[in-house]
This record gives sequence, structure tokens and C-alpha cells, in this order.
Amino acid sequence: MKRKTDKMTATVIDGKAFAANVRGKVAAHVTRIKEENGITPGLAVVLVGEDPASQVYVRSKGKMTVEVGMKSVEHRLEADTSEEALLGLIAELNGDPSIHGILVQLPLPGHLDEDLVINSIDPAKDVDGFHISNVGLLGTGQKSMVPCTPLGCLMMLRDHHGSLSGMDAVVIGRSNIVGKPMAQLLLGDSCTVTIAHSRTKDLPDVVRRADIVVAAVGRSQMVPGDWIKPGATVIDVGINRIEKPEGGTRLVGDVDYDSCAAVAGAITPVPGGVGPMTIACLLANTLTACCRAHGLVEPKGLTA
Ligand code: GUN
Repeated sequence: MKRKTDKMTATVIDGKAFAANVRGKVAAHVTRIKEENGITPGLAVVLVGEDPASQVYVRSKGKMTVEVGMKSVEHRLEADTSEEALLGLIAELNGDPSIHGILVQLPLPGHLDEDLVINSIDPAKDVDGFHISNVGLLGTGQKSMVPCTPLGCLMMLRDHHGSLSGMDAVVIGRSNIVGKPMAQLLLGDSCTVTIAHSRTKDLPDVVRRADIVVAAVGRSQMVPGDWIKPGATVIDVGINRIEKPEGGTRLVGDVDYDSCAAVAGAITPVPGGVGPMTIACLLANTLTACCRAHGLVEPKGLTA
């Protein structure tokens, strides 16, 4: 899943192709457990309100869930839905044996307590890996549900490098969704891990030490090529929309692609890098949750 381009020196890690491969593996495993065990994995996605970006994600998740042969359920609730009503729906889904994964799309409208809502999901069905139990299990190196975006990054890094043991990794960004779980996963694979953030002193020097750079800050093109150690692997989690000089908009990552690709050994593009892996890993997590719920053999290579 890598290609060389003429202009750049870096190998481009093709997340789109990688994600298609992961979905293919998930689909094959789903077919098998349907035939052998009569079980169909089910994913419920809950969307509160009408955030346009969230609506696009939810539609895309539903479509791909069905494509890999799983049951897909969508609950679209009004923006002014009460916390009680949302918690009631989650309790229902927790008790529904045909549902193995529950995802509540974030961000939630301001009147809803995100932590309370996420922690009301059965941890075994928490395919986002955001429940406090799963966070604790990951942090202590125990079997857990792993957040989808960092899991996708880890899969691509393992595929590119084989072992990550002993590598210096710098994660830029300390969010609960990406930065912190990414650091835990890299630590689990025996990297020496630094988590950098907006208050980090001498950020360019910190990044220059890294064999692996994971940029997850949400600031367009903030990492220039001269921060990158020659030959390092750059994983760009950012998805930022910017204005083009000639009019219109385009998507860019958190790293300056052209200058970083000229120095890096490998790099993920935006779009077509980390992005497609997130939904693929959500499907992988739903399958894993289903296998664990029914005591079936878990798919290989699709978990941390
Ligand atoms: N909003 C943006 N990314 C995510 C994600 O990975 N999971 C959920 N639940 N909401 C999101």
C-alpha cells in the first residue's frame, strides 16, 4: 500500500488503499461468522443535531457498515434532545443483543454532558474506545476497545516498519480522541514517546529528534519540512479546509506536505491518508466487539 512519486523522496502511505484492504478483511470475517455462527455484527450510530460535517460522517459510516455485511442502525435526534432521552436511548442500545457497537457522534450540543453520555455506553460496545474503562484498560496495557483514528495510524506504522520497538516517536497534540491514545499505543509497541502540545518548548527541536511524527493538532500545515529528521515517518491526522489563492477551498493536513515529503522517509497524504482508516477501524472494532460478545475468535491484525 505504498507508492513512490517522481517529485518526492518520501514513500507515500496510501491510506485509501490500506482502508479498502482492512474493510475487505472485515467483510470476509463477517461473512464467515454469519455462515458459521448465524451472527450479524450490528453498529448503532447516534447523531444529535444537524452539524453538517457530522451528518456527512454518519452517512458515510452507515454506507460502509452495510457494505461489509453488518447491520447498520442510525438514530438522528433533534438538537434540543434532553439528556434523559439520550441516556434512555443508549440504555436501550446497551440492552439490544443485535447491537455490538454504539457510537455517539461528537461534538454533542452544549447542553449535553459529553463525559456522562460516553460513560453511559456499555464499555464492551464502546467502539470509539472513549469510555473511561477503555481508556484505563489501554493505559494499563489490557485488552480494550481502541480509538479508531490512532488504531488506524498504528496499523499503517506497523505495516510500514514491521517492529516499532525502540523508535523515537513524537505525538503533536494531546486530545483524548487522538493524541493521548496514540501515545499509549506507541508506548505499547515499545517506542520512546513524547507528547508535544501548544506549550512545548523548542517544538522544532523536539520534532527533529523523532523517527515517527504523528501530527494531530488541527492547525493547517503547521509542521514544516525543516522540523523533520531525514528519513522519518510522518503521519498526518489533520483535516483542515483552506482557501485556495485562485478561489475555492481544498483539504490540507497539519503538516506542510510538500516540504515534509521532500525530507521524510514516508508520509501520509491529506486527503487519502489517515482519514479513510478511521471508518475502516470503526468497522474492525465493531467486528471485534461482536466476536468478544459471542466468544468467537477475533480477527487477526485488526486490533492493537
Ligand atoms: N467526531 C469526530 N471524530 C469522531 C470520532 O472518532 N468518534 C465520534 N464519536 N465522534 C467524532
